[in-house]
Amino acid sequence: MNTALFDRLSTVQADLVVAFVPSDSELPVSTSWLNERLDGSIEQLRVSNVFAGKLSETLLLPITTQDFAQPILLVGIGKDGALSDAQARKVTGAIAAQIKKLPYKTVAIANSGLTIKNRSTENVLTLISQWINEGFYEFVGFKKEPEVKPEIETILLEGCDESALSFGVATAHGSHYARQLGNLPGNVCTPSYLASQAQQLGDDYNLSVDLLDENRMDELGMQCLLSVGRGSDQPSYLIVMEYKGGEEGDAPHVLLGKGITFDTGGISLKPGSKMDEMKYDMCGAASVFGTMKSICELKPKLNVTAVIAAAENMPSGRATKPGDVVRTMSGQTVEILNTDAEGRLVLCDALTYIERFEPKSVVDVATLTGACVVALGSVNSGMYSNNDTVAADLHEASKVSADKIWQMPLDEEYQQQLDSNFADIANIGGPEAGSVTAACFLSRFTKSYPWAHLDIAGTAWSGGAAKGASGRPVALLTQYLLLKANG
Ligand code: BES
Ligand code: MN
Ligand code: ZN
Repeated sequence: MNTALFDRLSTVQADLVVAFVPSDSELPVSTSWLNERLDGSIEQLRVSNVFAGKLSETLLLPITTQDFAQPILLVGIGKDGALSDAQARKVTGAIAAQIKKLPYKTVAIANSGLTIKNRSTENVLTLISQWINEGFYEFVGFKKEPEVKPEIETILLEGCDESALSFGVATAHGSHYARQLGNLPGNVCTPSYLASQAQQLGDDYNLSVDLLDENRMDELGMQCLLSVGRGSDQPSYLIVMEYKGGEEGDAPHVLLGKGITFDTGGISLKPGSKMDEMKYDMCGAASVFGTMKSICELKPKLNVTAVIAAAENMPSGRATKPGDVVRTMSGQTVEILNTDAEGRLVLCDALTYIERFEPKSVVDVATLTGACVVALGSVNSGMYSNNDTVAADLHEASKVSADKIWQMPLDEEYQQQLDSNFADIANIGGPEAGSVTAACFLSRFTKSYPWAHLDIAGTAWSGGAAKGASGRPVALLTQYLLLKANG
């Protein structure tokens, strides 16, 4: 699907026009103009309560008149005037859902009628183009009868800022990619599959790609990462992709993704209920892939290195056992008290490997703990940082992208939960503050650079009827890197 801009409703060529109707206040200029062409029928529908303009309510006016030759989709925006982010998201979701069901190829959205609290016109254009595009995501999958394909070919948005538009569209492309990878089942999306995706992305966008196999990781002393994949027949990989949009030799910003392509828990086996959802345990990696795609499309002037720690966590006769002690690449030893706390075990060696890039900043992204889901639910990703500037930049990016994060504590008092009688660190703490102790574990490996950790266990996918990967936090990370490139 294409997305482009138009400047005037009176001259736009489209098969359908989408217009916004508030429930209380005056009609927005664009809607009011249409209302005049339709002899006041929009106002009539509203006054008579046939279409009252309730938030995300829609009504199709398929009949064309002599004065206006295009069908119109009315979309309610409620009584508040400027919408909250959540309301605007709901509205764009409703528009995409309607357009999918209709036979129109080109749809013009009169988005000047939609304002969002505390957001500039350009920012709104970016978000709407991103959210509308995301609304058209369909899993490319395995069903014998493929879903009916929507007819839509082009979305036209009102505005003149091409870069705001392309930013939203590129973010949506990255988010689509992340969702696709996240939704793939564990028998397809293995560590080697992720490695081949890196190769593909590298070929498509001219990235340098380095795939470290188990032998190379062994030589580097990454016994902790390797301990996770021991029980699996699928080989583990450390995947490195380099985007070079900045000066040669300029230190990169590094993104690191947890890529556990299936997490059974290992010998500390998980309970059976909902275990299928552990195919999503590579959503951190997926979001890093997605962000790289957005960045490759947008070509900002900076260097970005993406690292994926990919492994499958399985029980077997060769699997790591509770009580086993392994040496990390950093030299610190770890007592693995619970093989289900495997994310931190793959990430810690990757974090040490990353030191060689002398990074400007490192952000790791991981579906790390169930405790984070308990603490923050599916609204905010948990954010931890050892550096106030990185934390502030992520907060700023989060605000602009409407991809929410909440900073969690890393006080040194939490660290003692990781004391071990048999090694330098235990891989789990007690029952308290499980998301914090996981971050504390990582912090032992990030002393030499500015670092933040995003625990996306609650935000990376939705359960229930809308089950599927969310694409978060591609928007946050893309915005974070763009802010870095521009300042
Ligand atoms: N991948 C899980 C975390 C997870 C759980 C994400 C549920 C999303 C939903 C992670 O590897 C894990 O199993 N963590 C354990 C840690 C515990 C053993 C200290 C957890 O959260 O239970
Ligand atoms: Mn686990
Ligand atoms: Zn896991």
